[in-house]
Amino acid sequence: MSEIIRQLEEKRVAARLGGGQRRIDAQHAKGKLTARERIDLLLDEDSFEEWDMFVEHDIHDFGMEDQKVPGDGVVTGSGTINGKLVFLFSQDFTVFGGSLSAAHARKICKIMDQAMKVGVPVIGLNDSGGARIQEGVASLAGYADVFQRNVMASGVVPQISVIMGPCAGGAVYSPAMTDFIFMVKDSSYMFVTGPDVVKTVTHETVTQEELGGAVTHTTRSGVADEAFENDVEALLKLRRFMGYLPSSNREKALMVETLDPVDRVEPSLETLVPSNPTKPYDMKELVVKLADEGDFFEIQPDYAPNIIIGFIRMGGATIGVVANQPMVLAGCLDIDSARKAGRFVRFCDCFNIPLLTLVDVPGFLPGTAQEYGGIIKQGAKLLFAFAEATVPKVTLITRKAYGGAYDVMSSKHLRGDVNYAWPAAEIAVMGAKGAVEIIFRSDIGDDEKIEQRTAEYSEKFANPFVASRLGFIDDVILPRNTRRRICRAFERLRNKQLENPWKKHANIPL
Ligand code: HXC
Repeated sequence: MSEIIRQLEEKRVAARLGGGQRRIDAQHAKGKLTARERIDLLLDEDSFEEWDMFVEHDIHDFGMEDQKVPGDGVVTGSGTINGKLVFLFSQDFTVFGGSLSAAHARKICKIMDQAMKVGVPVIGLNDSGGARIQEGVASLAGYADVFQRNVMASGVVPQISVIMGPCAGGAVYSPAMTDFIFMVKDSSYMFVTGPDVVKTVTHETVTQEELGGAVTHTTRSGVADEAFENDVEALLKLRRFMGYLPSSNREKALMVETLDPVDRVEPSLETLVPSNPTKPYDMKELVVKLADEGDFFEIQPDYAPNIIIGFIRMGGATIGVVANQPMVLAGCLDIDSARKAGRFVRFCDCFNIPLLTLVDVPGFLPGTAQEYGGIIKQGAKLLFAFAEATVPKVTLITRKAYGGAYDVMSSKHLRGDVNYAWPAAEIAVMGAKGAVEIIFRSDIGDDEKIEQRTAEYSEKFANPFVASRLGFIDDVILPRNTRRRICRAFERLRNKQLENPWKKHANIPL
């Protein structure tokens, strides 16, 4: 018996040492933590239960039978984050570069299956050289097994990927199918084909960082949701982020206790919207002033900043916010912002997170780049997502709500539950000047007439009353009372029930 215990201890020591001290030192020298250090930082103290510590690969080629490391390059198991259970895997770059063998993939599949059964999130800490080259097709099969589970888990349990090292080739598609991707600056990258292949095929010279670094994916491609300075920051922010999410689609939105009164009056909001309708203002100020304790977890802050998305709490409940940002492109909707917000709305709807939509939108961004890029179908993604969503939906029009963009932004017509407007709201087909230049084209050149017609049009439509008269706006509210009114609206929608007609699945314009 004592011999078995000695062997067990030896195996544990070997597993904990991964690829050995030299490789651990190399990992640290790159500014990266090891797989186990990352888990320690992410989870609550002493909460980690490891599984499959002794799993080894069964590869016999290229001398691999003599190179076995217990755990085979990935640490898997479960633990808690602020008391809430999660399942997770953390790839160990010190063991065969964290590369994925069939055995390594089986370990990941096992925790994904278990997370689905118990209904808790799956977190993947990715740091891998891709398919285990010595193994071949069995490794590819392992990837596909993970992909299939990513798809089955989508909309059932939240899936979060943190890219903390290499993630290349087909390996990128597992994170791509998870709900959120966070990256670490300078030490992580994601691309389908690396700089050398790019050079050969397209003759472009590009560095790893330029092609698929954290900055590229959080500012240009929109593949990743946020870039963090280092492993420690990424893991601590992830702990905070997880606090907004329910464990699965079986749970209602999370409630936490708050000391911030739901009826807090915010007089400063009276002057947020400038009297000149062409002057921008910062919509984030409104988001922060509405949120419990001013706490806002923004997602994709550096991508398509003409729309703001992220989580706040109101009266202690998690709320997903979608808001036009008049500071960027005057808050117009375009391809990138529609895709960004559309995916977020769908995430919230999957996981019973109510939606707050703050509207100041002059329309869709015009131009050939937008039309050739398919703004018709891309814009339809956001429209589709809002229309399909059955979670409680509260909308506030702060200023402009013009044209098709008015309809899209969680309007009453897309089953908005409570739709408010501030007194400065203008709900119209378009701005007064543009409208007059179309319907009174023959008056162009006669400045006085045009001015008079514009004033007439403004008086008629540059206010929230026409829409209120038609019941499209439930009430015009004072900016200072906005938090109280919205908190109350969500409170009253808490037991909302709405189901879409049965179907296999919808056909969202992808
Ligand atoms: C087996 C691997 C490996 C792999 C790295 N290693 N990648 N072992 N299979 N895919 C091993 C190395 O041999 C080395 O072992 C250790 O990991 C660290 O690697 P280094 O090269 O020393 O590290 P670094 O300089 O940081 O470079 C990291 C790297 C590079 C950029 C990831 O290792 C690399 O290019 N690897 C190959 C990547 C690749 O082509 N993968 C297959 C992609 S195709 P020692 O013993 O020296 O420590 C793919 C298909 C997936 O993934 C398809 C899914 C559908």
